[in-house]
Amino acid sequence: MQINSDSILAVKRHLEALLRITNYYQNFTDTYVVEFFVEDLWSRVPHKWREVLDEMTSWEFAEEIFQPTLNSVYSRVYPLSLLSFKACCNKLQIPRQVDGLDNSTTSRQQLSKLFNYAMKKHINMKKQHELKQLCEVIVNEAAKSGSSHVVDVGSGRGHLSRLLSIEHNFKVTSIESDDKNVERARVFDKECLEFVSKTDSNAIKILPTHITHHVKRYISGDEFVTLIKTDSSINNDRILLSGLHACGDLSPTMIYTFVNCKEIACLISVACCYMKLSVDELGTQKAEPHYSVEGDKLGYPMSKYVASIQNHQIKFTSRKISCHSNEALSEKMLSDGGHLKVQCYRAVLEYILRKKNPNMIRPGVHNNNKKSTKKTCLSKFADYLVLAFNKLDIPVPTNEEFDNIHIKQMLSKNHRVVIFYALCSMLAPLIENIILLDRAVYLYENGFDSSVQCIFEPKISPRCFALFASKS
Ligand SMILES: C[S@@+](CC[C@H](N)C(=O)[O-])C[C@H]1O[C@@H](n2cnc3c(N)ncnc32)[C@H](O)[C@@H]1O
Repeated sequence: MQINSDSILAVKRHLEALLRITNYYQNFTDTYVVEFFVEDLWSRVPHKWREVLDEMTSWEFAEEIFQPTLNSVYSRVYPLSLLSFKACCNKLQIPRQVDGLDNSTTSRQQLSKLFNYAMKKHINMKKQHELKQLCEVIVNEAAKSGSSHVVDVGSGRGHLSRLLSIEHNFKVTSIESDDKNVERARVFDKECLEFVSKTDSNAIKILPTHITHHVKRYISGDEFVTLIKTDSSINNDRILLSGLHACGDLSPTMIYTFVNCKEIACLISVACCYMKLSVDELGTQKAEPHYSVEGDKLGYPMSKYVASIQNHQIKFTSRKISCHSNEALSEKMLSDGGHLKVQCYRAVLEYILRKKNPNMIRPGVHNNNKKSTKKTCLSKFADYLVLAFNKLDIPVPTNEEFDNIHIKQMLSKNHRVVIFYALCSMLAPLIENIILLDRAVYLYENGFDSSVQCIFEPKISPRCFALFASKS
């Protein structure tokens, strides 16, 4: 989607439509699915929908409503309002399809040995895909904007930075706040360089310069230039500012910096973790000393246009939902391997915990440890409970406490929990689109055209959009 003077009115109309539907269905998204039974979330689904949804398996819901394919057929008569909800969710979202990238040049055979080496080392398939795609995008955009210096913000362990400098000969400055990540990045750089010198002893390769620094939200253009000039090799090259999954406020910060720093010629921002954005949950305006311009203060909204909408906010729960991966959820629903049963188990657990102690609100019980409660999803609820209570370090309830008719009834409503979760998730792309379009409108308000494009396969990497802008 292009955001420029020709399209701005249509973009704003589109944003309004997104705001209207997400606002209308706020009672879905402003929820925690773990509270499904505690808050009786099923009652928030319109009565007519409930009648039909209650008869469905989660497989049928995925096939016919959630992620229908061209071959999908309706097995029953659905309420028109549900069909209209489905149509709006599908029609209004920016297409989640990778367009315009020349996949032929990114095929594995054509990648250099170094690229393959660097890819396989320490990097999972998801990251490999992201790096392949983003490197190609950066090479193209750098050529268009005449940038030879890339600043990689929130560079993590430096995978993107390393490939851009060693493989594509960019001057790269990596900025990362976590010193452990920077330490690892330096070790990986060294390994990579050793590999290069073994395979091509004549190759002169420059490594990225790593700066350990927490970029603050209100960094000015001058402060940013001073920061990157700690790298003494920097001269007056045009800068391409990039961030791969720069989380929370880091992405808006990059956008503010692009606007305020004349040295930056091009911006490629791939965001994630929208729930970490700083927002004004109370709807009060706070004065920030660094910026006087309205709307420049928060992670969301950024644009004056969205900031001027009365009583508008995207709550934490909705921003969290906007990070869902519908592709992954529908795959799970279609494969029906019982993986989603854990959603229901967790919701019943919440019910039991609240009965015991009303102050115990949504404690964390799922993690990736060996004895993870998530991995017990295929086993019995009793086993799940034991693991969860052990994790919370509280006495496991007796059989009588949870082996009763009421708990059994809740457990038998597994399909409801999954379908409700999917209904919320249908709105997820729309909420993400609102956040991204707000950023694009902010850029437009400050004199810059931009575009929002899907650059990753959403099945592999659900935070698949990049926001592009450049200065002529
Ligand atoms: C989701 S990770 C992405 C890492 C890397 N770009 C990648 O794709 O592998 C986000 C990174 O940004 C870093 N980060 C977050 N806020 C930051 C800030 N304000 N300044 C610098 N780094 C930050 C985090 O420490 C983390 O390593």
